[in-house]
Amino acid sequence: MIPVRRRVVLDCDPGHDDAMAILLAAASPAIDLEAITTVAGNQTLEKVTLNARRVCTVAGIETVPIAAGCESPMRRNRIVAGAIHGDSGLDGVEWDEPTVSLDQRHAVELLVELAMRHEARPLTIVAVGPLTNVATALQREPRIAGRIDRISIMGGAIGLGNWTPSAEFNFYADPEAAEVVFASGVPITLVPLEVTHQALATERILARIAALDSAVARMSDALLRYFSETYERVFGFSAPAVHDPCAVAAIIDPTIFDARPMNVAIDVASQLSLGRTVCDVYGTTGRAPNADVGTGLQVDRFWDLMLEALATY
Ligand code: RIB
Ligand code: CA
Repeated sequence: MIPVRRRVVLDCDPGHDDAMAILLAAASPAIDLEAITTVAGNQTLEKVTLNARRVCTVAGIETVPIAAGCESPMRRNRIVAGAIHGDSGLDGVEWDEPTVSLDQRHAVELLVELAMRHEARPLTIVAVGPLTNVATALQREPRIAGRIDRISIMGGAIGLGNWTPSAEFNFYADPEAAEVVFASGVPITLVPLEVTHQALATERILARIAALDSAVARMSDALLRYFSETYERVFGFSAPAVHDPCAVAAIIDPTIFDARPMNVAIDVASQLSLGRTVCDVYGTTGRAPNADVGTGLQVDRFWDLMLEALATY
């Protein structure tokens, strides 16, 4: 039996790993990619939106609407991750002018429109940046909560953060948005740093990508080599953690992940641990589980999925 393709919106802040998530989502036979929405995060909204258009231009992804969303968090000042992704948000490549155009709808409007569309299949959202667009859409039109079958989120951490000792970047950038999403009642798959730090683009992976010998392979190689430099400089990693495609893979083939249902609460109050995902691993709070939280990754199967996707371009 041919599995039913999921209707998917990828909400992202390209971002080197976001670029890989776009390439995986657009190529997967398990996904109908109905839109790419952008949100301020790794860089400003203008920059991440231009980057989404750049990646889609190189990859020939010309029929997926790209819509720009929220330019700042719900209640806080915007932060960016220039030290990781560079001033452009996608440093490491000499980009030509993109030919893929920008959809004139706001990302929040498009998310609501697609969720409310009368379709046999519900909508799946993959969110790999700050959750500002998704939270705003849920607040703008609460009925969409019943029309989204799952939100797969790259973000958070069971333990150590990567932006502060307590918090991961996407959730630190807009903790109030994360709080709204985790309170929405929509089924959530959370792909935290404990999983994505296993998805390292090692030299062996880079060699497999280079062997594909295509424009997309060359773009991916350049992006991941830039990402390698920043991950070594900032985190002392021997290879970069390619976070975001893990959240796409989680809806393509959930069997490559170990996950456990647990309650996840977002710290929106403290100074020391603002943005922390407080994961109730041992069920000590009595709060009902609101997310399936990833704890492990079958690394080889993840990279096989990623390489299969890259080979289609
Ligand atoms: O902490 C990693 C996350 O923050 C990834 O989504 C990366 O692209 C940045 O947005
Ligand atoms: Ca991202």
